Amino acid sequence: MKLKFFVVLIASSLLTEGLAFNAETELIIDELIENYFMRYNRIPGLGVSVVRNGTVLMSKGYGMKNVTAGLPSDGNTLFAIGSITKSFVAILVVRTLNELYPDRGSAILDIPLAELIPDTVNFTLSDRYRAEHTTFRDILTHRTCLSNGGVHLILGSLPSASEYAYRSRYLPEICEFRNGFEYNNHMLSLAGETIAAIAGTTLQDLVTDFANELGMENTTYVDFDGSYESSPDMSQPYVLRDDVLVEFDIFQIRKVHMALGAGGILSTANDMAKYMNFHLNLGLVDGRQIVPANVMNWLYTVGYPFDFRGGRTDEIGSIVYGDLGTAQGLFSTLYDGWNIIHHGGYWPPYHCDMRLFQATRIGVFICANGPGVIFNFPTHEITAYSIFELIRGSTKSIEQILSSKVNLGKPFVEHQFAYGHRTNRAPTVLHHKQIRTTVEPEDVLGVYGHPYDGDVTIRYDPETNNTALQVFFSDWAYGRLEQVPGFNTTFSIEWQTSFNDHFYSYPFPIPSFWVDFGVVDTALFRGGEFDLYDEFEYVKNATLDTFPPIPWPPTSCGPETLHH
Ligand SMILES: *[C@@H]1O[C@H](CO)[C@@H](O)[C@H](O)[C@H]1NC(C)=O
Ligand SMILES: *[C@@H]1O[C@H](CO)[C@@H](O)[C@H](O)[C@H]1NC(C)=O
Ligand SMILES: *[C@@H]1O[C@H](CO)[C@@H](O)[C@H](O)[C@H]1NC(C)=O
Ligand SMILES: *[C@@H]1O[C@H](CO)[C@@H](O)[C@H](O)[C@H]1NC(C)=O
Ligand SMILES: *[C@@H]1O[C@H](CO)[C@@H](O)[C@H](O)[C@H]1NC(C)=O
Ligand SMILES: *[C@@H]1O[C@H](CO)[C@@H](O)[C@H](O)[C@H]1NC(C)=O
Ligand SMILES: *[C@@H]1O[C@H](CO)[C@@H](O)[C@H](O)[C@H]1NC(C)=O
Repeated sequence: MKLKFFVVLIASSLLTEGLAFNAETELIIDELIENYFMRYNRIPGLGVSVVRNGTVLMSKGYGMKNVTAGLPSDGNTLFAIGSITKSFVAILVVRTLNELYPDRGSAILDIPLAELIPDTVNFTLSDRYRAEHTTFRDILTHRTCLSNGGVHLILGSLPSASEYAYRSRYLPEICEFRNGFEYNNHMLSLAGETIAAIAGTTLQDLVTDFANELGMENTTYVDFDGSYESSPDMSQPYVLRDDVLVEFDIFQIRKVHMALGAGGILSTANDMAKYMNFHLNLGLVDGRQIVPANVMNWLYTVGYPFDFRGGRTDEIGSIVYGDLGTAQGLFSTLYDGWNIIHHGGYWPPYHCDMRLFQATRIGVFICANGPGVIFNFPTHEITAYSIFELIRGSTKSIEQILSSKVNLGKPFVEHQFAYGHRTNRAPTVLHHKQIRTTVEPEDVLGVYGHPYDGDVTIRYDPETNNTALQVFFSDWAYGRLEQVPGFNTTFSIEWQTSFNDHFYSYPFPIPSFWVDFGVVDTALFRGGEFDLYDEFEYVKNATLDTFPPIPWPPTSCGPETLHH
């Protein structure tokens, strides 16, 4: 534990009094951020905003938005806020539904999507029961218990958000409907596309219009053409490679265009200050009620409660904390008796966090342009809680505040206990079981499809004058196939893109990926070395046209009849 070091390092005990936020408080926060949070996590650049009851206490940058070019980060620097986007989708959902069905109240969140969508959309999911019963509340609180999908987001393997949404119908059940928590990017993206269809527009326009109403004029989203990449305010993302901070290929950020609703928004500290005040003032912005206060409150109720243990099992246990459950596009948590609404954002290598302390109307937003997932003490969470205490006039020193939080920085796996009763993933059913022992290139060339991960092409690598084989998922992810010695049908993938940049944002070894052609007419895609990825079976010539538009048989009445 590095804590002893902190205590030695910080000799001065820095005191503040009362609720005044002044230059001295800001200096202490600067020290907390620069000397602890950024230093121990080797963060290149940061956007931070802190608000209280309608006032922006501070909103600025730290470090560099572009280390290479020597450009400092500031309050207008753009970061990929990742999954904090989900809270925007939730607002668009409650707002749109309230406008369309003003008499229904919050119960509208419990009306099945199938009844809300326009006739022009065929809404379905992998089983009849979910297709007919899934509500926005189920999706926004991650309780559909459908699989979060596969590797499509990191491969960038689907061409559009509408196709990503369409393919959600093939996601297999992973636990019982409404009886478990499966954090689901795929379904949140579907919610975004669906509410846009209900509103008769696009999610892009809904997001832009909403941001404009709040005066968040620099907020934008990751689009397919990547126009944001050349914005002078765009931060350059970084990762650590062999312990050296290097540029992350910004092109890889663009893959999230296919999942705007799950994590595609780019924003700034200044704009997020406005967003937090919008939440904390329950929809009121400059005297205008953008969303009614009672409708804002629909967002914050727990939809899927966790088995809350409040941190009482911790050694120190002086501060009781923990997630109470999922709210709409947000999490509801308890910290030292305070109910807090929050969401993190992680679109590698950007890592961000937004925390709203509703009773005191304090909001803290922290967003880093690298170097990847932040595990080291103090985390975003601990830094935000420390800021919360500092601006409430805590008379503790930084080291006292931090020492009360040494057990707070638990990674997300803490939520494992809340996963409910999980069923095993549906086993992959091979369409053809003919085994092959050797691979002739001509036998394996072609297009292979997967119901939710999209298509993959096996072709000759043009760079080798068409001698070696190449696997092509997308412009973001393609590579040469090289036969693994001793395994006749297994080929390793030597990526020819910057795809591996993704993995430098984790403190794990870079995984290897393989394609296996051992079963005729299939390509089995496997990732290894750390068990994050399943196997994905792609079937020759299987495309969206060959998968049934309705994945369940007409006689089906529930998930028990689900077969692929
Ligand atoms: C909806 O499904 C019907 C029957 O399968 C089909 O004819 C129609 O084209 C579908 N509509 C859309 C918008 O996909
Ligand atoms: C947007 O960013 C520009 C700098 O690129 C800045 O001049 C402007 O004030 C920002 N707008 C808002 C509303 O923060
Ligand atoms: C950062 O600066 C480098 C060097 O000037 C440049 O190549 C790169 O495009 C910049 N990144 C962004 C996001 O502007
Ligand atoms: C917020 O400010 C308003 C006046 O603008 C005041 O009435 C209210 O008590 C304040 N609330 C908090 C929690 O400070
Ligand atoms: C690999 O291929 C060789 C011939 O090319 C064959 O003799 C051998 O049995 C194959 N091995 C396996 C495990 O199928
Ligand atoms: C491909 O062919 C061209 C023209 O024949 C040659 O110049 C080049 O070196 C070849 N490349 C490879 C990778 O073999
Ligand atoms: C796949 O499609 C190609 C071209 O249409 C065809 O030659 C081949 O027989 C098909 N293979 C399978 C397994 O359907």
